[in-house]
Amino acid sequence: MARHGPSEVAVTWDRLLAAEYPTAVPGYFDSAAVARVPATVGRAVQDCYAAMALGLRGRDHWRSAAEQARVALAEEFGAAAENVSFLASTGEALNAIARAVPWQPGDEVLVLADDFPSVILPWSRIDPSVHLVRAEPLPGDDRLGGLLAAITERTRLVAVSHVNSSTGTRIDLAALGAACARAGALLVCDGAQAAGCIPVDVGPVDFYVATGYKWLLAGFGIALVIAKPAALAGLRPTLLGHGNEPPAARLPYGHQNAPGVCALRAGAEVRRRLGYPAVHDRIAVLVRRIHEQAASLGLPPVADLERSGPIVSLSGFGDADAAVSRLDAAGIAVAQRDGYVRISPSFYTTDHDVDALLHALAELSRDG
Ligand SMILES: Cc1ncc(COP(=O)(O)O)c(C=O)c1O
Repeated sequence: MARHGPSEVAVTWDRLLAAEYPTAVPGYFDSAAVARVPATVGRAVQDCYAAMALGLRGRDHWRSAAEQARVALAEEFGAAAENVSFLASTGEALNAIARAVPWQPGDEVLVLADDFPSVILPWSRIDPSVHLVRAEPLPGDDRLGGLLAAITERTRLVAVSHVNSSTGTRIDLAALGAACARAGALLVCDGAQAAGCIPVDVGPVDFYVATGYKWLLAGFGIALVIAKPAALAGLRPTLLGHGNEPPAARLPYGHQNAPGVCALRAGAEVRRRLGYPAVHDRIAVLVRRIHEQAASLGLPPVADLERSGPIVSLSGFGDADAAVSRLDAAGIAVAQRDGYVRISPSFYTTDHDVDALLHALAELSRDG
């Protein structure tokens, strides 16, 4: 068997990246908003539209792409292919789940008060007898601790972001899943800021959803839903159509976005070719470097390094919007979220990009 030394691996990685991203986009640190879409994904979408130009005679193309997408994403996230489905967005998926749980009077849904709106709002108008409990994270952005302290025997469902989009803190799903199982509560996890960039094991989660336009590399209008069969069997969907005629407990109610599914499949293929661990490791290395250097500049990251996802959010700016504008003027794209400067590198971020970011941050912190 051929053995590849570290330099050959590096050359292969560089070649793959150059083929997927032929146009340099320097200083891009906003992948948590919208990821750069690789060339393979663009071609897959074009091929899908070419098949649709044949009308129904092109159906083998999009049907087999959907099956390949299910298999590839199931492999990447440790699920069975039959438990993978697709909806248009994270918001649609969470609302579909919220309207499918057979609620009982007195049930509680537990969320974190500062979670992303799409993780909180779907549970807010479901049934007047269901109480939405908004827990606060414990000090130090201990999000898991905040949820564990608020689970009671009335908790019917816990909804949470795997990685918080403002602070970058990652939740320990094994610990949360164990607590939910003890309480008899469903665990619904929004992996928008986790799937495709950090290791994900969906084992402890009943419903894991993730949007296409971030780390899944697939653009807008498509989201991944991974459901545990037992949890799905307990649902009574109320978004209904030809795709899920009762008594089917399926969430998709009509045709899926075929080009979007082709894009998801192609995005998974890009990550597989680069190597899932290599993608995760590269992002973790970049996060560590930015985290440590920013801390030494007096710009404290909000999340502990050990609990960080692909995002480094910095506090310590009097005016985060002004800081983001100044970084933008220096050619560095970051975002302001909840008063923090949010920095989100990806596997396509270069060391040179990080040098430029750190230089600009040093100037900002020097100028106060
Ligand atoms: C945690 C989280 N969930 C959901 C979304 C949005 O997903 P969608 O537009 O597919 O509903 C975002 C976008 O920023 C997000 O950060």
